[in-house]
Amino acid sequence: MMHFQLTEEQRAVQEAARDFTQRTLKPGVIDRDREMRYPTTEVRELGALGFLGMMVGPEYGGGGMDTLSYVLAIEEISKIDASCSVIMSVNNSLVCWGLETFGSEAQKEKYLPKLSTGEWIGAFCLSEPEAGSDATSQRTTAIDHGDHYILNGTKNWITNGSTSKVHLVIAQTDAGKGHKGINAFIVEASQAGVEIGAKEDKLGIRASDTHSITYTDVHVPKENRIGEDGFGFKFAMKTLSGGRIGIAAQALGIAAGAYELALAYAQERVAFGKPIMQHQAISFKLAEMATEIEAARQLVYYAAALKDRGQNYDLAGSMAKQYAADTAMKQCVEAVQIHGGYGYVKEYHVERLMRDAKITQIYEGTSEIQKLVISRAILKGALYPPAVL
Ligand code: CAA
Repeated sequence: MMHFQLTEEQRAVQEAARDFTQRTLKPGVIDRDREMRYPTTEVRELGALGFLGMMVGPEYGGGGMDTLSYVLAIEEISKIDASCSVIMSVNNSLVCWGLETFGSEAQKEKYLPKLSTGEWIGAFCLSEPEAGSDATSQRTTAIDHGDHYILNGTKNWITNGSTSKVHLVIAQTDAGKGHKGINAFIVEASQAGVEIGAKEDKLGIRASDTHSITYTDVHVPKENRIGEDGFGFKFAMKTLSGGRIGIAAQALGIAAGAYELALAYAQERVAFGKPIMQHQAISFKLAEMATEIEAARQLVYYAAALKDRGQNYDLAGSMAKQYAADTAMKQCVEAVQIHGGYGYVKEYHVERLMRDAKITQIYEGTSEIQKLVISRAILKGALYPPAVL
């Protein structure tokens, strides 16, 4: 049995994230959502506080923290501002973690100090107009020209699309080899041939900058390939396995934020002569919300703890993401219902959380893809929970 007795350091991280969220993020969050305005100064402060390279080793300018600390920070920030937490999640768990784990020493020294302090922001460029869930069907090509590759193609739905200075781009280098002919490259946004498309006008996480990016004859030096030739698809899958824990924590935070608002409202709002919390129709809803959110929290912390122990977390991460994302969607709808008409207007925050929740069922692998990963593991005979715990 695994117990999550938080250490003093982990509690301090949680407290710092809560304080930052209330003090800095909450005041402008409604306007940024309405105006689709990127949180420029807020992201700068995230970097100054060490939230953009939390797990990166101190030798590369990061915080050297564990995954559980990272999850606690994402959870707190997502209670109010999921636009900010996705910017943070992509930079931490897809870009920094991917580079630190699989990059060469030269790549790490060149990019991590800037990325982990927020001086530069990173983007993870896998999805394409015709390659979303089916990630092996890459149409972007990188043709080998001796000491460099020539990159051509379009990537879609890229978080940090216009603000990132570094892109980790997945591309096909040899179509005949299927997923073994895929590679991952470091591309700088300032390079000739990189063109950023218009900002997407989204249902939720409206302040984060989501763009398509087109690469036309971009010259990528060979030293910018990550790992051995043909490692790109595994790089993407392994990196996404950790990323999914971050998005699971985001979903958990959105659900917990909506619950906290619904609970406060239910204690204060009077109907039929008593606070609505004292009506069973509402108290049972809150009981169910609290239970499902706690179950999601256990799954998310469990996946993070497995990663911190160096054990395989692919299955636990998929379970955490699928359950937390579906819980966030369901419980945000309930939070709006508890608020009645007030829940339907922007001032009360829950309608935004409900819109933000939806994306957690879609990005970094849809809930259906998580079920595919889980069911394939079951078919392979994976025992769950592993007896070793
Ligand atoms: N770790 C290591 N290797 C893995 C792996 C993992 N987690 N998952 C798969 N692989 C390996 C397999 O072992 C296999 O290698 P071998 O042939 O050597 O055995 C290879 O990868 C191909 O695997 P599959 O045959 O399982 O591939 P598939 O085509 O059936 O696809 C999939 C598997 C799970 C559906 C995968 O395509 C997938 O995860 N799709 C979803 C993509 C996704 O999550 N996109 C998110 C975009 S990024 C984003 O959203 C960021 C953002 O901005 C917020």
